Amino acid sequence: MRNKKRACEELGILSEEYSLSASTTQEELMSLIETLNQKEDIHGILVQLPLPSHLDEESVINAINPKKDVDAFHPFNVGKIMIGNYDFLPCTPAGIMELIAEANIDITGKECVVVGRSNIVGKPMGMLLLHQNGTVTITHSKTRNLYEITKKADILVVAIGRANMITGDMIKPGAVVIDVGMNRLADKKLAGDVDFESAKDVAGYITPVPGGVGPMTIATLMKNVVKAATL
Ligand code: GUN
Repeated sequence: MRNKKRACEELGILSEEYSLSASTTQEELMSLIETLNQKEDIHGILVQLPLPSHLDEESVINAINPKKDVDAFHPFNVGKIMIGNYDFLPCTPAGIMELIAEANIDITGKECVVVGRSNIVGKPMGMLLLHQNGTVTITHSKTRNLYEITKKADILVVAIGRANMITGDMIKPGAVVIDVGMNRLADKKLAGDVDFESAKDVAGYITPVPGGVGPMTIATLMKNVVKAATL
């Protein structure tokens, strides 16, 4: 959230932060969203997830005006992404697509493996790779023989939320490895889902944590805010 606010300041985008207490009620949060939906000088609304467990995340997301949904989490926007005709790109997946494009990597026909099936990253990531003609496999915690699947990936995107889970021996030599993980270790250090040390010599391209995907997520969010102001 700190980095998102800083990006707004750098670009001259107004941002207002509402830090609600952990015991905030569903009604209080819904009423704040309704107020922001009505405010004409607010173009984008972002509810930082996850929410405390007593709050119903789905109804909160559903309450955001889809035209102000700069995270692209509302079912209306999710549906548009599925069809391939969207106003808002999902922030992390779109940031990853930009990294891949900037490295001049063609996705057409490539084996693309996404580790993790979250609504925020895994599922929309699979969809964007599919739109660019990748052959997409989405794996998850119940997947059997993960090693055999990751080992075939030309493009491997890891968003499972387990520190250093993907090791060098699970990666195809020369593969593009994108690490979405942000795991806080006991010593307070940030670790990705990929074991960078063992992976870096096998991969053709690899993103670090921190500093790889995170800044791209924020850049896409900023694009979405500008887009929202034009809708
Ligand atoms: N929690 C983890 N990633 C995200 C994100 O991109 N947006 C929001 N709103 N919450 C998150």
